[in-house]
Amino acid sequence: MSPFRLTRILPEDATAAALRADVREGLTADPKTLPPKWFYDAHGSELFERITELPEYYPTRAEREILADRSGEIAAALPARTLVELGSGSSEKTRYLLDSLTGLRSYLPVDVSESALRQAGQALAAERPGTEVHALVADFTAGLALPDTPGPRLLAFLGGTIGNLLPAERAAFLTAVRALLSPGDALLLGTDLVKDEDVLVRAYDDAAGVTAAFNKNVLAVVNRELGADFDPDSFEHVALWNADEEWIEMRLRSRAAQTVKVPALDLAVHFEAGEEVRTEVSAKFREDRVASELASAGLELARWWTDRENRFALSLSVVR
Ligand code: SAH
Ligand code: TRP
Repeated sequence: MSPFRLTRILPEDATAAALRADVREGLTADPKTLPPKWFYDAHGSELFERITELPEYYPTRAEREILADRSGEIAAALPARTLVELGSGSSEKTRYLLDSLTGLRSYLPVDVSESALRQAGQALAAERPGTEVHALVADFTAGLALPDTPGPRLLAFLGGTIGNLLPAERAAFLTAVRALLSPGDALLLGTDLVKDEDVLVRAYDDAAGVTAAFNKNVLAVVNRELGADFDPDSFEHVALWNADEEWIEMRLRSRAAQTVKVPALDLAVHFEAGEEVRTEVSAKFREDRVASELASAGLELARWWTDRENRFALSLSVVR
């Protein structure tokens, strides 16, 4: 059993203040929005794990296939002594990397979900003597600083989560990631690829309604944390393909005209019947766009792997 440590880089009160600011800004904007990181309380993290097992949600299986086939090559290209993983969630697919990186000393999973970090981190530490697991409760979009661990470092960002950032946020994020890396380190990035609209929409609007429950969970978070009186049943889950932006948009559509109170913000929010709140985008990529966005951040795409059906890609950028 190797050591498991958890550090809260995000203090509770900072999280609460950020949620208040985000909800005030998003629900008073036109059109209304809510930022996706607030999906992931303990219940949201559980619902996301159920999404990854849905027949319609192919990205997890496609990325797992690439990792199963290519982790040896990845480890050979970058024999990391530290693996940092942003938005690690259950760390389930990461096991392929952990198995292949034979010289690994430190695994640093980073997530806003403390419950997911504890569950995944404790299990991994128990199974893998020799690898220190140091979990960081942190927002990867907010000036991440990492503990001093041995290089070379491999920084993994899997699940296509980069697609949940808007283009300007993505550019800032990649530039910040580049600044965390030194020569000889690398970024391993998972990106979902542009494909048939029906396949994409079904992945975000499954028959069993798990994605709908996940989307509506953000309303439960706002109710609990800010005393709001959202009735989740009065909103409908919407997933649509935006062909111009090449992203899936998740929305919550008010079934009727209603006013929702958010006491902690001293705010009353009016919704027209049919009015929508955008809760998330999930951008889909092509290789040239991944390469050019990396290049804009000073990163050079070195390797590109896809699953056998070309649905999802992993890219490796080694810093020189
Ligand atoms: N990597 C896992 C989980 C992907 S879901 C997989 O591929 O299955 C996205 C994960 O990112 C969730 O665990 C969520 O809690 C986390 N997350 C979302 N926004 C975040 C942010 N701003 N900072 C840190 N973690 C975040
Ligand atoms: N990173 C995941 C993705 O874009 C997150 C996700 C999957 C998601 N399904 C969702 C977010 C439904 C909100 C609603 O694929």
